[in-house]
Amino acid sequence: MITISGLTKVYESRGRQVTALDGVDLHVREGEVFGVIGQSGAGKSSLIRCVNLLERPTSGTVVVDGVDLTALAGKGRRAGKDLRRARSSIGMVFQHFNLLSSRTVQDNIELPLEILGVSGAERSRRALELLDLVGLADKAKAYPGQLSGGQKQRVGIARALAGEPKVLLSDEATSALDPETTRSILQLLRDLNRQLGLTVLLITHEMDVVKTICDSAALMEKGRVVETGTVGELLATPGSRLATELFPVGGAATGPDRTVIDVTFHGETATQPVISQLSRTYNIDISILGAAMDTVGGRQIGRMRIELPGRYEENVVPVGFLREQGLQIEIVEPQDEARGAAEGEQAEARDARQDESQIDKQDAAPAATAPALVKDGAR
Ligand SMILES: Nc1ncnc2c1ncn2[C@@H]1O[C@H](COP(=O)(O)OP(=O)(O)OP(=O)(O)O)[C@@H](O)[C@H]1O
Ligand SMILES: [Mg+2]
Repeated sequence: MITISGLTKVYESRGRQVTALDGVDLHVREGEVFGVIGQSGAGKSSLIRCVNLLERPTSGTVVVDGVDLTALAGKGRRAGKDLRRARSSIGMVFQHFNLLSSRTVQDNIELPLEILGVSGAERSRRALELLDLVGLADKAKAYPGQLSGGQKQRVGIARALAGEPKVLLSDEATSALDPETTRSILQLLRDLNRQLGLTVLLITHEMDVVKTICDSAALMEKGRVVETGTVGELLATPGSRLATELFPVGGAATGPDRTVIDVTFHGETATQPVISQLSRTYNIDISILGAAMDTVGGRQIGRMRIELPGRYEENVVPVGFLREQGLQIEIVEPQDEARGAAEGEQAEARDARQDESQIDKQDAAPAATAPALVKDGAR
């Protein structure tokens, strides 16, 4: 549904060049919820703004629903009209809602329809239908100032759907909301995805968002996509950082001469009693050092860090047994354990900085990207 190829974006700022996107390739399939995650400054907003050509890419192509948007752009006024039409099949939701405070909720939703030249009666019918769809049928005549954050975002979503788009883009749509409201908005996006067959491309810096609603995900770093795939594929990729962050398991070996293994369960294997079979078959005691189980896209998925007595060389056969059961197995080297712990600390530090960066953004301070530099320095 969305195919991004070789996308680069270089900003000129005060005589300096900033490469925000550095050769991004990404494919979002029809009907899926695709999450792009990355730290502040990774290029997420640049990517999403290039997808609907709010920002013109420096090079590369963006094809949405079979239409090459990059070819429509840059061919003068006529092409501008074509681009506008193509864009109407793409809805966009923003972090700070971007509603017009002087217009009622209904008039906010009608705005894109006015621009498309839809007649008054039809506009009104569509707007009320959309308000019903997002659960705000009774707020048509209210003003944005009278709504909660979650309600404002529902209006933002209704407005994004006014042009009956096939694709919905969302830039941190839940970042300004509390956890409970976040959940309800994510649920709404999921429902719309299912009911309307809407393809959703969302960007976020919260792993929980990816975990809650995404079928597929990509990790961005310094303008590049460093990992991408369906959640199942990521979990099956040895060393995948997204998989590790989606299902963090901690725990260090309890002594020397132990083998520590991360076991990933998904699909059928999630319900098989493999650990007890392993213990019985090889008559070994197994300690569970850490575990995380969850339902992703309606399927049970989990990771477990277990410890077997003896070094790896002595455990080749039991490890082979686990692999034969269709489980994803990764041997945790002692230095990996140490790194895991350090990453935990880094994540905490990152969360603290994230809060700072939110404050920066609220103040609309131009220094909003400064925390990214701190992050890079801390790596
Ligand atoms: N209009 C602009 N002019 C110059 N540089 C820009 C502009 N917009 C973004 N950048 C730079 O491009 C890089 C990527 O920015 P972008 O906003 O895409 O990151 P992001 O991943 O969305 O970050 P955040 O999580 O903080 O929203 C940053 O280094 C940023 O400073
Ligand atoms: Mg951003």
